[in-house]
This record gives sequence, C-alpha cells and structure tokens, in this order.
Amino acid sequence: MKILVVGQGGREHALVWKLAQSPLVEKIYCTPGNPGISQLAESMPMPDRFTDLADWAAAQDIGLTVVGPEVPLAEGIVDVFSERGLKAFGPDKRAARLEASKDFAKRLMLENDIPTAEHQTFTDAEEAMAYVEDQNAPVFVKANGLAAGKGVIPGRTFKEAVQAVTTILIDKAFGDAGDSVVIEEELIGEEASFTVLTDGTYCLPFVSSQDHKMSQDGDTGKNTGGMGAYSPAPVITPELHDDVMQRIVYPTVNGMADIGRPFKGVLYVGLMITDDGPKVIEFNCRFGDPEAQVLFPRLKSDLVPLLIACIDGTLEQHADVQWHDEAAACVVMASGGYPDPYQTGIVITGLEDADAIEGVTVFHAGTKQDGETVVTDGGRVLGVTAVTGKLHDAIQLAYKGVSAIHFDNAHARNDIGHRALGRK
Ligand code: AMP
Ligand code: GLY
Repeated sequence: MKILVVGQGGREHALVWKLAQSPLVEKIYCTPGNPGISQLAESMPMPDRFTDLADWAAAQDIGLTVVGPEVPLAEGIVDVFSERGLKAFGPDKRAARLEASKDFAKRLMLENDIPTAEHQTFTDAEEAMAYVEDQNAPVFVKANGLAAGKGVIPGRTFKEAVQAVTTILIDKAFGDAGDSVVIEEELIGEEASFTVLTDGTYCLPFVSSQDHKMSQDGDTGKNTGGMGAYSPAPVITPELHDDVMQRIVYPTVNGMADIGRPFKGVLYVGLMITDDGPKVIEFNCRFGDPEAQVLFPRLKSDLVPLLIACIDGTLEQHADVQWHDEAAACVVMASGGYPDPYQTGIVITGLEDADAIEGVTVFHAGTKQDGETVVTDGGRVLGVTAVTGKLHDAIQLAYKGVSAIHFDNAHARNDIGHRALGRK
C-alpha cells in the first residue's frame, strides 16, 4: 500500500518512522516533510488546495492518508478526501471542532458531565474584564480558536489577566482565533497526556505519556509546543486510567456522536490530575507533539491496520494492541530564544553520531536541507528520543544523544522527566 502523510514536524517524522516498519507499506510520501522524513519517504511540496492533493492521491493510488497537524483537519482535509472515496485518517471538519473551538469543547463537557475547569466565554472585552475582576487570580485566559499552541495565557495576577484579555480580544494577537476568549479557573495538580484512537464508537487507549510545556528547567519560562516528553507517565495509575476512560473518553466520543459529529481519529486529552480526580485541560484532535515521539517507538503492533480500522469502524477487533515494556524519553533541542523570535539557517552537526547510539532515534522538526548540510529552520528543531529499560535509563540515553549534536544557541531543558523520577 502507498501512504501519504501530511505535515512536517517531529510528530510526522515519528509517524513516518513507525509506518515505514509496516510490512503492508510499499512506499510513503510526505507533504511537505522535512530532511529527516526524506530519509524514509518521498517529500513533496504541499499544494495550495486540498482538492489538488486529493486528485494527486487518487491518481497515485494512495491507500491511506494520515494527517498530522490540527490546522488541515480543522479546515476539512478529511472531508475532501472522503468525498473522493479516499481513506484519510483523522476527524472531519465538524468533529475537529473539538480542538478548533475551546468554547465548543467546554459546552460538550458541560452537557456530558465531563470534569473540567469552571469557565466563561466572552466576545466583549469589558465583560471579560468584569469577570476577571469578579474571579480571584490566578485564571487562565485562552483564545477560543487555533493559535499554534500559543493561545493560552496564564493570568497569575489580576493585572496579568487583564493584559491577557487585552492581548487576545483587543490587540487581536491571535487574529480571528481570538474573536472570543475562554476564561478558566486554575486547576492544580500534575498534567498527563492521554491518547486514544477511536472509530467513533470504540476507543483504544495508548500507553500514557507526559510532556513538558514550559521552556525552562523547573517548568518555568514561557509556554511552548512542548520541550520533551516521556512514556509511561507514572501519574496515570491503572485506576486512574479506567476512570479517565469511563468519565472522560467515552462520554466525549459518545457526546460527539449524539450531536451528529462522530469523532474518528486520535483523541488527545490534556489532563490535570487534581485532588478531585482527573480534569480536562484541553482536547486535541491529533497526536501530541512531542508525545508522538515517545508513543510510536513503544508501539509493538503495526500502526497501519489500527489507523485503517478507525476509518472503517472496526477498531474493536484490535483491542489486543501490543506495547514494548521499555520506557521512552524525548528531549527537544530548540533554537535559542524559542518561543520568542529566533535565528534560523544554523548548521547542525552530529546527527549521525546521535542516531548511531543504540536505542536513540533523532526525529527532525524544524530542519532544512541546505546542500550537503542540515540547518535549523524552526523553533523546535529536533526531538532526540531514546527507548530502553526504565525511564531513568531512557532519559539518560536521550541526553547522551543530545550531547552528540551541536548547533549554535541550541536550547534543551536539562530536567525532562523530573516529575516521574521524583516519584521513586
Ligand atoms: P492548553 O494549550 O490548553 O494545553 O494550555 C497550555 C498549558 O497551560 C497547559 O498544558 C497547562 O499547563 C496550562 N493550563 C491551561 N489551562 C489550565 C488550567 N485551567 N489550570 C491550570 N493550568 C492550565
Ligand atoms: N504537546 C502538546 C500538544 O501536542 O499539543
């Protein structure tokens, strides 16, 4: 079978890496791809219109298209492919709303008694300010729409919260994504990422994982797309796992079906494990990044039949999915300055040395081929992933990989996995 992957980040490199191991796969194409992906797949530019890509996929006899990022999903890429009778993995436009509108997700949770933070949604800045004044800081102020992971601003003080409302509703820092704001109470606890595949009815949980969103050690600095991840996440005990499936995952998937928006694809639940139990921070309609970079290396079963079963509605037949017992850790190497503006085009060395370390795989994110060399081309540049033994060993091995790689101003956190290690 020929497969097309849409996207260009570390998540898509990890997807392509896993798909390439399937005996069912004859060839993989990726659009737009990156230099790491190009070692395993044929990268090609992303056409302007989904219809052009679907025409190309039909002509090439692509058997499965896997969409990595949220933006094309929210814009309806799966709808366009399905209309042509092509199999595309991921929710359609109506279902992707679960990530594309935080207000929509909040309503769904309220209607289905799914535990989450108290909130209010506003389009009017004055009303939002009045609400902030009414609430005690800290609160979280969120652009309603998609903002590349940057639309959540913590309001630790009243002043910060007012500034956040101004940034989103008045200054329009996130454009249309900030036409409305969701203001939430702060949830206290430890975060975890809960990933399930679903065919709209049956839900197949992945092993647990956790990422580190803040840019600096000790979870300080600024919010980023994710500076590293590990799996398993010990905070998710077997009891908690069952609780999340029963009180969050199934009510979400059933709730979407009830309102005529059946959700097929990946449901990523960002959780806060509070003293009152697990609560939803956010839903994503795609694999987490960097979480995907620790999940796929732990997946022993073939990924291709699982993704097809989500599309065909036969996922229950795959309930016996197999996982490797080894732990996985991913350390992101970012451009100095990220998530603020940073320089690109910096030469990266040591990639092959890191890859040569047994148990280490380097996933590319923001990289670009420049003649014979690979240069930096984004905020998150590489995800250095290690799979071995226990978590402690995997983390150490990932850092060994990091130390083999060099580019000027590279920034990596030094404490990936600190919460999990602190538990022992
Ligand atoms: P999100 O993009 O919604 O995942 O938010 C980014 C990060 O902000 C989350 O990973 C949390 O660390 C934090 N966050 C968002 N909402 C809340 C909340 N209600 N309480 C505590 N932390 C939150
Ligand atoms: N790492 C969090 C996300 O993918 O949204």
